[in-house]
Amino acid sequence: QKGGYKHFMLKEIFEQPRVIADCLTGRLDRTTGQAVLPELEDLPAPERLFIVACGTSYHAGLWGMYLMEQWAGIPTRVEIASELRYRDPILGPGDTVVAISQSGETADTLAGIHLAKARGAKVIGLCNVVGSTVAREADVVLYTQAGPEISVASTKAMCSQLTLLTLMAMAFGRKRGVLPAEVATRCLPALEALPAELDAALPGMRQRARELCRVYAEAHSFLYLGRGLCYPLALEGALKLKEISYIHAEGYAAGEMKHGPIALIDPKFPTFALAPLDGLYPKVKSNLQEVQARGGKVIALTNPGADLDVDHPWEVPAGWGPLSTFFMLPALQLFAYEMADYLGKDVDQPRNLAKSVTVE
Ligand code: F6R
Repeated sequence: QKGGYKHFMLKEIFEQPRVIADCLTGRLDRTTGQAVLPELEDLPAPERLFIVACGTSYHAGLWGMYLMEQWAGIPTRVEIASELRYRDPILGPGDTVVAISQSGETADTLAGIHLAKARGAKVIGLCNVVGSTVAREADVVLYTQAGPEISVASTKAMCSQLTLLTLMAMAFGRKRGVLPAEVATRCLPALEALPAELDAALPGMRQRARELCRVYAEAHSFLYLGRGLCYPLALEGALKLKEISYIHAEGYAAGEMKHGPIALIDPKFPTFALAPLDGLYPKVKSNLQEVQARGGKVIALTNPGADLDVDHPWEVPAGWGPLSTFFMLPALQLFAYEMADYLGKDVDQPRNLAKSVTVE
């Protein structure tokens, strides 16, 4: 069942190249370079988007917000479902809600859908489990097609959500006539190349994760830092480490560090930074210099060609534009996985957690 892997989580991390390919199947038009999502054809292009989700799916939603704004020009809010349901949000007919849920059974996300529908908003469900409650209750459903996810910690489901959000941002951008020309020409070939590139990179990433977890296994707490698209990834990296290795970790927007958490930095409080070679690289680099000046140890996930002088640089392939995420995410997952396994934790069934949270 585990296909030769020690845990389902590891198997599911290694399935991600296939998950991306499956999520793309039938959804790319090579002749036009466009994303094809027939489910969305009859909906008007949204003027405003609310993304509603919990946990890892919420992090996927935060990531999606950047693309919805940049590629489709749609004002987008991302809401923690358990917060939205008890607010009185400015939400009504004409608004579109995207509910993201792997299981399609998360109680708070369903409550968000009910609230949206009661106010006359349209609901698009992004979910993995066919026939689930989210799929039945949404006006329109897009399946992430990741296959069953057995490990409690979500990995490949997030990868599939990000793939689908990328396609949605392309489709909405085209519909609204604002898709940047570079995205229109480069995104589709880059997406198609991704599965093979990730497949080739994963074994080396696992090896690096094994080495690094042994160096940092004594740490009681980690700070994960990222900016832009890497901010939601920092949150996700911290969540993965907490939930399966039981090491405290906090994800932070790198620019927020000097507004408080920098007080915590000392040689025993390591920082795991996301520092891809994108437009924000110089900013993250200077944040890391601030960490190092206070004696903090740094692991930095970056790309070949970076000039970071940190304790443990970790280079992963860059990918085109935002697609670099698809290399960063598995590195974060593998670091948490290897740490939990090294510490002898029950990786697939972490304590106190259930795969689907059907009560609030
Ligand atoms: C973390 C994890 C949870 C889920 C959350 C939402 O690894 O699995 O944070 O992401 O409970 O679940 P879904 O996506 O099923 O609504």
